[in-house]
Amino acid sequence: MALIVWTNDFQVGVDKLDADHIMIFSLINHIDEAHLTGSDEKAIGRILQVLIERAFAHFQREEMLMKKHDYPDFEAHAAEHQKIIEELESLYEAYQDKPSADVSREIVEMLSAWLEEHVLETDMRYRPYLSENRS
Ligand SMILES: [Fe+2]
Ligand SMILES: [Fe+2]
Repeated sequence: MALIVWTNDFQVGVDKLDADHIMIFSLINHIDEAHLTGSDEKAIGRILQVLIERAFAHFQREEMLMKKHDYPDFEAHAAEHQKIIEELESLYEAYQDKPSADVSREIVEMLSAWLEEHVLETDMRYRPYLSENRS
């Protein structure tokens, strides 16, 4: 079973941001599957690098849009991103020093659990401010 499954419950109503979330979820599941099938850690490391780049680029995109729309809770939201960026950076550094399935698994499991909560709770709050399909 996939580690994290995107459903309409995760829809924030901004196409680009929804597309980012779907892409990030799918990279997480791809790595999870690679672990389950015993893939070479070098191959996993390449996907992991893409996942981290995509996640950081997504946070930036989201923050730019929140600023553009004068989202009132911008500071607290950006602080949540900053915290996970720091956690990911330190784990990813450890991984780069010594790539291992244990650390890559820890990274995707941590990011997956964090994202599920962050998208459903924190991202969802900007929906009325940023959504293209306000109803
Ligand atoms: Fe966010
Ligand atoms: Fe997000």
